[in-house]
Amino acid sequence: MSSSRLLGRLGCTHPILLAPMDLVAGGRLTAAVSGAGGFGILGGGYGRDEAWLLRELDLAGDPATYGVGFITWSMARKPRILDIMLERRPAALMLSFGDPAPHAARAHRAGITVICQVQTVAMAREAVAKGADIIVAQGAEGGGHGVSCATLPLVPAVVDAIGHKVPVVAAGGIADGRGVAAVMMLGAEGAVLGTRFYASEEAIGHPEAKRRIVTAGGDGTVRGILFDIARNNVWPAPFTGRVLQNAFSQKWLGRERELLQHIGEDAARDAGDFDTAPVIAGECAGLIDDIQPAAKIVQRIVREVAEAFARHTGVHIAPAVHRGDGIVEGRVPSFAGLSHQAEDDELEVVGCAK
Ligand SMILES: Cc1cc2nc3c(=O)[nH]c(=O)nc-3n(C[C@H](O)[C@H](O)[C@H](O)COP(=O)(O)O)c2cc1C
Repeated sequence: MSSSRLLGRLGCTHPILLAPMDLVAGGRLTAAVSGAGGFGILGGGYGRDEAWLLRELDLAGDPATYGVGFITWSMARKPRILDIMLERRPAALMLSFGDPAPHAARAHRAGITVICQVQTVAMAREAVAKGADIIVAQGAEGGGHGVSCATLPLVPAVVDAIGHKVPVVAAGGIADGRGVAAVMMLGAEGAVLGTRFYASEEAIGHPEAKRRIVTAGGDGTVRGILFDIARNNVWPAPFTGRVLQNAFSQKWLGRERELLQHIGEDAARDAGDFDTAPVIAGECAGLIDDIQPAAKIVQRIVREVAEAFARHTGVHIAPAVHRGDGIVEGRVPSFAGLSHQAEDDELEVVGCAK
């Protein structure tokens, strides 16, 4: 139970990664997560908009502290977007949903770590064979696109298959420290959080979308291709998307053929009409009840992980002593990166204990 391979590879303090959410994880959110000791991954998404990517990269801070993620099958149609990204030399390139091979090789030549998000054991084996340095095992309860296997059975199966070669990080359904602690028990070295960081102050996104995440319950999402049909953006098999249920999904679920006529989702989203446009979010929406600055979310999760371990396993991950020169000393077990010290009522995150 150690995050040290992952932290060493990414150069961050805490094993908490921002999901590269299209249109949500912009430069400000990326910088905020990395600034708090996590690892921000900017959402390059479909890779269609060079101007957007350049602007957000400028906001993301020191490239050595963050990664950039793309939807691989889409980015592959826009090779120039990868050139722009590689020129910036970020710490990592995250590739999800498609063949990583040619892009991984280019990233490696530029000295960039390659993270691949996968949804099955077979995909994990293939991604490692094609150059992945880190595997994100994404369960179907997660927000956005994915496949069908849930996080709880997927993560240990992926760890068994390839965990001896590269670090495995879990994604899908993780919104607090209990979730991070749980996936570390399954052998993951860290967690990727999407929906939780969507409900942050720095996330790009309409306030109404964030409000809906905060008020949604865990049973308030639906996985399918309804919304991809509506925006004329149907993905290759086997990928489907998870979004919050709304009036649109209630009206059209099961009537996908008719829906092929429907257009206008972008206008609805810009107008804040989330009865029509989807809020892309996962089942962990049921665990989210506030919109916080991203740094506070990272700090709270770090504290909760320590509390969860202490309460349920008797393993104490604190206190560590901050020497004031960036070095942390303490009786911290091999749970690298989760050290903190008490200050007044709050626990302050002080750094990485190894
Ligand atoms: C709003 C939103 C947009 C997303 N966009 C992308 C994306 O562009 N590329 C990607 O690899 N994953 C994307 N994802 C999936 C995340 O990478 C991650 O697997 C997922 O959010 C984890 O589940 P969680 O939402 O329960 O934390 C998105 C997720 C959300 C919620």
